[in-house]
Amino acid sequence: MEMFSNKNIVQLVIWVILCMDLCMAVKWLALFKSRTKKWNFPDDCKKSSGLTSEQVRICEQHVSLMETVAQASLKGVDACQKQFSDRRWNCSTITSVPKMTKDLKRGTREQAFVYGIASATLIHSVARACSIGATNECTCGAFPLKAPSDDFKWGGCGDNVDYGLRFTELFTSYHTIKNSKRKKTMMNAHNTAAGTQVAISSRTKACKCHGVSGSCSIKTCWPSLADFNKIAETLKHKYGRAIEVKRKRKKGVSMFAPINKNVKSIPNDELVYIQKSPDYCSPDRKMGSIGTQGRNCDRDSHDSGGCDIMCCGRGYDSSDVQIFRRCECKYYWCCEVKCNTCSEIVRVHRCR
Ligand SMILES: *[C@@H]1O[C@H](CO)[C@@H](O)[C@H](O)[C@H]1NC(C)=O
Repeated sequence: MEMFSNKNIVQLVIWVILCMDLCMAVKWLALFKSRTKKWNFPDDCKKSSGLTSEQVRICEQHVSLMETVAQASLKGVDACQKQFSDRRWNCSTITSVPKMTKDLKRGTREQAFVYGIASATLIHSVARACSIGATNECTCGAFPLKAPSDDFKWGGCGDNVDYGLRFTELFTSYHTIKNSKRKKTMMNAHNTAAGTQVAISSRTKACKCHGVSGSCSIKTCWPSLADFNKIAETLKHKYGRAIEVKRKRKKGVSMFAPINKNVKSIPNDELVYIQKSPDYCSPDRKMGSIGTQGRNCDRDSHDSGGCDIMCCGRGYDSSDVQIFRRCECKYYWCCEVKCNTCSEIVRVHRCR
């Protein structure tokens, strides 16, 4: 039995106050709505765009990075919807941020994915912004200490992963939330770190050839993070094998332990969740499900996007719809492409 001393109660109250701000750390994804906004002056940093008061302060000190942060939010939202377009849970509720819908608050693996992709897109975009000179907050990243093999030299301007990581941890209040004793905050902290880990491990090198008529006798390379879609794909795999955990106390310290006894450890770059997901078949506000009625499905597939699984056995209705697309495009010198519009009848299947 845990005793509630005065000290505990004071801590709890402080936590609740702080938490209103910190616990919902992906609200900043709402910046995708104001992505065309200009970030020039500290006055442009407002809580109304989905920033917490801490993030407003960070924004004021790093205004020249905020356009990058806003673009990162758009990339994150897009990637989530793209990865889940053929799933029952299709990441559509993410567009209601900064209002957080139930599916992103209950502690499920969907929430885990969203926190992971949010920090991954942030570190990726910021590290890249440094190397392409989109901000004056940072410049090229350092080259790895390990001497390269003979066939290339380090050169050029690499993604600044160190800066990207520092900024991501700052912006997501990582060092505060990782010390939380609250289960969901612990989960968000873990998945935030997992997202940055996945991005960092994607690091490869990009190269350029020099030498007589492109002979590539001299090659310079610089560290470069993988394409963001690749990182999103990796995170989707990790969503599939996310680890269900429960909290336990060890020598007064709260930590997670896997529910499944066969899972021996929780790697830093894997996603964790504390609450089983609903099947997302029918609408249930309390569970955070909007259901799959009306969703398009593939009649010939027995996979997640197939009508069997998507429609949860309710069946589907088929209809013919006319779609329009550009076709018969011709190139005119110089420099114009003209297309016709073709229409086509396609059969679509929608869940009942
Ligand atoms: C996701 O599914 C809902 C219905 O369940 C649908 O209204 C919405 O358009 C879908 N969103 C995307 C991005 O596919």
